[in-house]
Parts: sequence; C-alpha cells; structure tokens
Amino acid sequence: MSSRLAHPSSPPRDGEIHLWRVFLGDAVGLCSRQARWLSPEELRRADAYRFDRDRQRFVAARGELRRILTAYTGVPSGRIELGSSAAGKPFLLSPGPSLHFNISHSGDQALMAFSSDGEVGVDLEEIPSESRLEDLLPTICSAGEQLRILTLPPARRARALLRLWTAKEAFLKATGAGLQIAPDRLEVDAEILLGEGGTTRVRWAEALHLSELYRLYPLPECEIRWQASAALAVRWTGTPHRIQWFTGEDEESPLPHRIPPLADASDARRVGPRG
Ligand SMILES: CC(C)(COP(=O)(O)OP(=O)(O)OC[C@H]1O[C@@H](n2cnc3c(N)ncnc32)[C@H](O)[C@@H]1OP(=O)(O)O)[C@@H](O)C(=O)NCCC(=O)NCCS
Repeated sequence: MSSRLAHPSSPPRDGEIHLWRVFLGDAVGLCSRQARWLSPEELRRADAYRFDRDRQRFVAARGELRRILTAYTGVPSGRIELGSSAAGKPFLLSPGPSLHFNISHSGDQALMAFSSDGEVGVDLEEIPSESRLEDLLPTICSAGEQLRILTLPPARRARALLRLWTAKEAFLKATGAGLQIAPDRLEVDAEILLGEGGTTRVRWAEALHLSELYRLYPLPECEIRWQASAALAVRWTGTPHRIQWFTGEDEESPLPHRIPPLADASDARRVGPRG
C-alpha cells in the first residue's frame, strides 16, 4: 500500500457517496510508481494507447483508483481484482462486490465515485476554452432540449450543453449501458441546464423502470473549483445522499483530505449567470 494513503479510510456508509477529485498532471510520476499495481489486462490496455500522454493518464487513473480502493478495503493495491461488464463498466471482483465505483477522466483530471449501496455513474468533461459544442446539439439533445438550449443567450449555450451531456453520460454509466444508448433518446429535467444543485431525473422513454431507479446530482463544485462540468448518477434509495468530497496526492495536498462543501447555495448559483 502506498505510504501516501497509509490511513485506511472508512468506505462510504449507506446513503453516502464519496467523490474523489484526482489530479493527473503528474501522470509520468504517478505512472512510474503505480504501473506495478496494474493487472496484465490493464497493462495491455495501456500499451494499446497511441500517445504516451494518454497511456500515462490511463495508468495513473487506474493506479489512483487502486490506491483509493486499498484505503477503503485494506487489500494491497496490486492484489485488488477488477472485472468489467460486457459493455466495459469496471467493478470490484475481489475483495468483493460490496463497494461500487465509477470513474471518468478528462485532460489532467479524474473524478471517481464510490458507494456502498448501489451502482454509481460519474462523468467529467473539462470546459473547453473555445468550443463548437453547439454542433453536437442533435447528437446529445432530444428535440425539446435543443429548443430549451437555443432559447438561452448564446454565451450560455455551450456550458448548458456540457451540463446536459455529463448528466446523460453519468446516468448511462450508472446503468452500465454507456454510449450504447444514444443520448438524444434521454430527457433530463430542465434545471440541469442552469448548473444548480439538487437531484433531478433522467427520463428514458423506452426503459422507464431505469429512469425510476436512478437520480442525478449535478456537481457545480467542479465548475467552480476545477473548470470542468460533471454529474453523478446514483441508485435511488428514497432519501437524498450525503455527498462527501475528497482529494489525495495532487497539486493541492499530498495527503487525502476532505474537501469542504461549498459554503452555501449561493456558491452553486454563482455558476448559473456565468453559464
Ligand atoms: C463508458 C463511456 C460512456 C465512456 O465515455 P468517455 O467520456 O469517453 O470516458 P470517461 O472518462 O467519462 O469514462 C471512461 C471510464 O468509464 C468506465 N466505463 C467504461 N465502460 C463503461 C460502461 N459501460 N458503463 C460505465 N462505466 C464505464 C471505465 O472506468 C472508463 O475508464 P477506464 O477504462 O480508463 O478505467 C464509453 O466509453 C462507452 O459507452 N463505452 C461502452 C462502449 C461499449 O458499448 N462497449 C461494448 C463492448 S467493447
């Protein structure tokens, strides 16, 4: 186990979601320390990347995932066994399936979600400085969502679209389907476009039972703190989850620590007007 995460942390309790923001800027350093923990299958996948930078980020993200799983389970990082579903969703095979997780990476950042009481999905997209995101409107949005986005002031459309995109992808990743399902077949409640907190739902007309099973949490923290749009989807247990943020070995802190929640709702609202 890495000395940097020497204090085993308690895994999330029922009703809690742990979110880890991981900085992969030092992917080369992380890679050199952590590649030894990866399974032969993960190393094969790493080798298949064409660009060194992408390979290093993959290894660093999987290494960090293993380090966090070690902190939760006490099992050394190299002995953790991960499986993956037919559509590619990784899960914990050993020491057991009781801890659910999902990860997403974009640029030098990764976001990892952990839950003890049900499937989770998470998606993170760095906010591009300039974008032609609007070209993606028909791919991502239902007809109604396209209209809603086009009624926003032009300067706010790209960010609204990114919020919608991460919300849909988080939902699809929670269900395990991933992009086998075209995102324009899903509808997300309109408030997601404003980037405010609070749970919302995804409607998937062909699979309404799945719409009922999951809830979405927009994550305005990511826009405010890390210039990225992100969303979390969780298996709904009937009560809102307590979301706790952590970070580990990164540019801000060498030790794992809790990131305090945003001061109050006005912090979350700040993202709206900038939108
Ligand atoms: C999952 C998917 C939506 C990821 O999209 P992305 O925005 O490019 O990437 P993200 O960084 O957000 O997420 C990637 C991570 O999601 C996880 N993931 C992969 N497939 C997943 C799935 N079906 N459901 C949930 N999570 C998945 C993995 O951990 C992956 O990272 P890693 O392999 O580096 O560990 C997309 O790759 C997809 O749809 N995959 C399924 C494709 C498929 O149908 N495959 C059939 C068998 S090959």
